[in-house]
Amino acid sequence: MKLKNKEVENLVFRSYLEEIMHKKKFLKMNRYVQHGNTSCLLHSIAVAYYSYRFSKFLKIKVHEKELIRGALLHDYFLYDWHAKYNPSKNVGKHGFIHPKIALFNAYRDFNINTIEADIIKKHMFPLTFEAPKYKESIIVCLVDKVCSLYEVFNKNAYAHITKEVITTKKERRVVARRLNPYY
Ligand SMILES: [Fe+2]
Ligand SMILES: [Fe+2]
Repeated sequence: MKLKNKEVENLVFRSYLEEIMHKKKFLKMNRYVQHGNTSCLLHSIAVAYYSYRFSKFLKIKVHEKELIRGALLHDYFLYDWHAKYNPSKNVGKHGFIHPKIALFNAYRDFNINTIEADIIKKHMFPLTFEAPKYKESIIVCLVDKVCSLYEVFNKNAYAHITKEVITTKKERRVVARRLNPYY
């Protein structure tokens, strides 16, 4: 059986996704809302998936592993940013400070390299002043903004992603679990 390009690409995406989804700490992102009804976990998977698809669509040669892993961890800040008292309140506004918190957490929990770190640290550009250095960081910075807007206006965002790349029962259960605001 011959696989189509997109099927092969989805398998590549899945292999990197699986590697990170095995870490329980990464799944903690499912506890927090990003925009609308979308959890930080699903938001991050979507940003990674569309960053990857975008690079394929435009035939941009990228470091695929770094692009996907960096995007998966770009919002790995691990708190509810909507809560009145959240950890970022002590140090600055969430929009400015969360890339640094996500980077700190990613260094602590994952073995990230320079490109992955740049993706995480600079994804909020131009709100944060340092411009992305690598094409992988630029792609994630752009796709993150489009995904964020989409989530604000769609209550059931990314149902198709769940079908295409979140394929095991266990993963589906994790992603579909109801967000618990009291964690
Ligand atoms: Fe972010
Ligand atoms: Fe994001």
